[in-house]
Amino acid sequence: MPAVLEFHDIIKEYRGFFRRRTVRALDHFTLQVEQGEIFGFLGPNGAGKTTAIHLAMGFVRPTRGSGRMLGQRFGNADARRKVGFLAENVALYHRPAETLVRFYGALNGLTGETLTRRTREALKTVGLSHESGRNVAKFSRGMLQRIGLAQAIVHDPDLLILDEPTSALDPLARYAVREMLLDWRNRGKTIFLSSHLLSEVELICDRIAVLNRGRLVRTGRPAELLESREEVEVVARGISVTSFPSAEVEPENRIRILVRANEQRSTIERIWSLGGEIVSVSLRKRSLEDLFLELTSGASPRDFTKIPTAPSSPEAI
Ligand SMILES: Nc1ncnc2c1ncn2[C@@H]1O[C@H](COP(=O)(O)OP(=O)(O)O)[C@@H](O)[C@H]1O
Ligand SMILES: [Mg+2]
Repeated sequence: MPAVLEFHDIIKEYRGFFRRRTVRALDHFTLQVEQGEIFGFLGPNGAGKTTAIHLAMGFVRPTRGSGRMLGQRFGNADARRKVGFLAENVALYHRPAETLVRFYGALNGLTGETLTRRTREALKTVGLSHESGRNVAKFSRGMLQRIGLAQAIVHDPDLLILDEPTSALDPLARYAVREMLLDWRNRGKTIFLSSHLLSEVELICDRIAVLNRGRLVRTGRPAELLESREEVEVVARGISVTSFPSAEVEPENRIRILVRANEQRSTIERIWSLGGEIVSVSLRKRSLEDLFLELTSGASPRDFTKIPTAPSSPEAI
């Protein structure tokens, strides 16, 4: 099956004022999003997330490289009609909520009863049925974001592209959006969402990509990315610090060894075989937040000073 969204070796440069300076927003950016997945697109401000989304939607053109959305070249009108899009900064006409969502439904080819029914369903999904007659000019940012979401889903698109969809939502609304996206995915739809809210992404995404300064620094399933990062701290007594290359001396004749989670067992066996004793084994569990900071700040992966440890007994191994 072809990818739903495909960026191929894209460079996007913006020209600065008076063409003096160019900004490279995307640098050899390649990514594939498959059908039926919730894909989280992560990165700090200025990483290039919105640029990548605008390229896919055909709002801007790549400087180099190419891409496809739903099998068509970026900007193709037929493909666009099967896509629901929520922009980062929602800008909506000042109309009553229902009129507005109807308008977007009609723009995407819905008519008659279907248009009425889908409009009502979309407003219900985002929890704004009771506000459907109110002019959106009076709406809060969170409500506007929900109207934005309603216009993105009204035509039952195959692919939903959401740029920072929950940034203005309160926790309850966030929860509702999360449930909606999972429901959407269960119906075989694809969701591509950019976010800097890592905890959200960790909860619902099947795969994530981390972007930093226009470059893709990591892709994978959240659990995989985290597992490969887990390390174990083993504190032992009764063996020489020279027994392990990474060992450090601790008070009371103890040594501290930091190993990858999959080397834990062999490390403990080695300590025992050398006549040593295990004092403690603790997991250095990393959150997606830690991983994100590490990938986007250039911090040393060996710098564990700020990461809390979760102690466990040697018996628990
Ligand atoms: N229209 C534009 N003109 C010039 N520079 C831009 C434009 N849009 C974005 N940029 C620059 O491109 C980089 C990526 O921006 P953007 O795609 O908005 O990142 P993100 O959405 O991850 O915050 C930033 O350095 C930004 O300043
Ligand atoms: Mg952005």
